Amino acid sequence: MTPVTEATPAVKLTDRINRIEPSATMAVVAEADKLRQQGIDVVDFGAGEPHFATPQHIKDAAIAAIQANFTKYTAVGGTAELRDAIVHRHAVDFDSDYRREEAVASTGGKHALFNAIQVLVDHGDEVILPVPYWVSFKDIVRYAGGNCVLLETDEAQGFRVTAEMIERLVTPRTKLIILNSPCNPSGAVMSPDDLTEVVRMATQRGIWVVSDECYVYLNYTGKRFSVGSLREYRDRMVIIGSLSKTYAMTGWRLGYALAPAQIISAMTKLQGQSTSNPTSIVQKAAVAALKGPQQCVLDMRAEYIQLRDHVVNGLRAIPGVKCTLPEGAFYAYPDVSAFFGRGGVKSASDIAGKLLREAHVATVPGEGFGTAEHIRVSYATSIAELNRGLERMRKFLGAL
Ligand SMILES: Cc1ncc(COP(=O)(O)O)c(C=O)c1O
Repeated sequence: MTPVTEATPAVKLTDRINRIEPSATMAVVAEADKLRQQGIDVVDFGAGEPHFATPQHIKDAAIAAIQANFTKYTAVGGTAELRDAIVHRHAVDFDSDYRREEAVASTGGKHALFNAIQVLVDHGDEVILPVPYWVSFKDIVRYAGGNCVLLETDEAQGFRVTAEMIERLVTPRTKLIILNSPCNPSGAVMSPDDLTEVVRMATQRGIWVVSDECYVYLNYTGKRFSVGSLREYRDRMVIIGSLSKTYAMTGWRLGYALAPAQIISAMTKLQGQSTSNPTSIVQKAAVAALKGPQQCVLDMRAEYIQLRDHVVNGLRAIPGVKCTLPEGAFYAYPDVSAFFGRGGVKSASDIAGKLLREAHVATVPGEGFGTAEHIRVSYATSIAELNRGLERMRKFLGAL
């Protein structure tokens, strides 16, 4: 075997892999982990995942699946039982009318999103993406060869996105609009009227809408809404869903897409040449989640509302920090630009870096989400942990 030495020539990687960057969120998780391995007590506001355990009836279904030897390959896009459960849950909760052929199960919502973008976006196509955006949208579009056209929003208007704002960016090359409500990182929620107008405009202009609804059940406005209920516009829509946040199942990796059968069939073809089916055992657990009691979802949502109010009040109490009330998901997105120029910090990245290394609080800098003034604070943790982190932030920022 040839030993790897310093003289080993650099590997020529493909253009497409060089077009994308590692996820900013994953980078924070990795750095926080390193500190923890050194024995440092880090308060983690970085991770984008529920602090709840997966509900017992879902775990039981997975254990039963193993005992019953449901451990072989399944149909690439998931079992008929699972796709029916996905369609059923969505119909009950959002009054949609998808059929089994219009649903595919994938290894997480990110995987479903990746496949959808790969089958819709070609080289040179333009994709309209509201700012702030979840880190992976941009890189997944770039991997497909598309160009993101960023739609700036105004925090004073709650990061509102309207059809008129989007329409101003439309060109003959516009292929797709990505919506994400509730939004990671801002927690902003689009109103049903704004969502309807965007989808109507897109359909009229022959533009696709990918609606990432991974946080659709964590909407605190009281007006839970999926564009999937707009049946008349379904021909141009791809809905991305996930069990990760809804049922506290991030590690299980189960997401899905609902879309016209032709798109689902193309996504399934791609999946069939890459990962094949999501894990068989997880599919059984997912059926239990989707068809079982939904009280766990409501209970977790109620707790997130309390945590949100607690963290937003705590952040607002720190002099210099501004924080819009997030209406969904489990992130606060405070503006920390008042601290730029103090104590050698020039950017949100500097603040997040120093917060982690000096105050041992993990947050994610806004640059990765397209805004330079914010840091993302995940409040999916206990009140006690929020208090510990807020106290460290207050001391650290106060000393800048
Ligand atoms: C907006 C958004 N979409 C999709 C995902 C992907 O979730 P998963 O792949 O765990 O289903 C995430 C995860 O953080 C997210 O925040």
